[in-house]
Amino acid sequence: MKFGFEYKNQSKSDFVKLAKELATTLKCGDVLLMYGNLGAGKTYFTNKICACLGVKTIVNSPSYILLNEYEGKWDVYHYDLFRLSAADEVLDLGIIERLKDGITIVEWPELIHDYLPKKRIEIYFEHNNDKRNIKIINVEA
Ligand SMILES: Nc1ncnc2c1ncn2[C@@H]1O[C@H](COP(=O)(O)OP(=O)(O)O)[C@@H](O)[C@H]1O
Ligand SMILES: [Mg+2]
Repeated sequence: MKFGFEYKNQSKSDFVKLAKELATTLKCGDVLLMYGNLGAGKTYFTNKICACLGVKTIVNSPSYILLNEYEGKWDVYHYDLFRLSAADEVLDLGIIERLKDGITIVEWPELIHDYLPKKRIEIYFEHNNDKRNIKIINVEA
């Protein structure tokens, strides 16, 4: 997998492969920020990463759930901030306090991306007809 490269026209099975390659690079404490419109594939990609980290039971529709906690190789904290509108509401979830305890994955991170560690992986999703474009950027502090 190439960081900083835009993979175009990715099918779901392409996403499975990419998620697997990314998952092998992850360590406890890593932060992944998922950017992109509704339906762009953020949850799908997140769930594939979780599966590669050994998570057995994955909840399918986190749009109604602010935080899903999973146990795998490391704990995974999967946030979906779509319905929140203020940074305070997000910080009240305890996202900062949990950073060191596992892998943090955030959909709709815009409200709080300035509060999160500068060292992070940013993932940008775009619709491309029935497929998706995806760019994975490894931001070093
Ligand atoms: N690479 C892909 N190609 C085609 N369909 C995809 C792809 N990735 C995800 N999908 C599908 O798109 C829909 C929305 O995906 P989802 O991950 O829920 O989007 P988001 O979390 O960004 O709102 C789901 O039905 C999912 O199966
Ligand atoms: Mg989603």
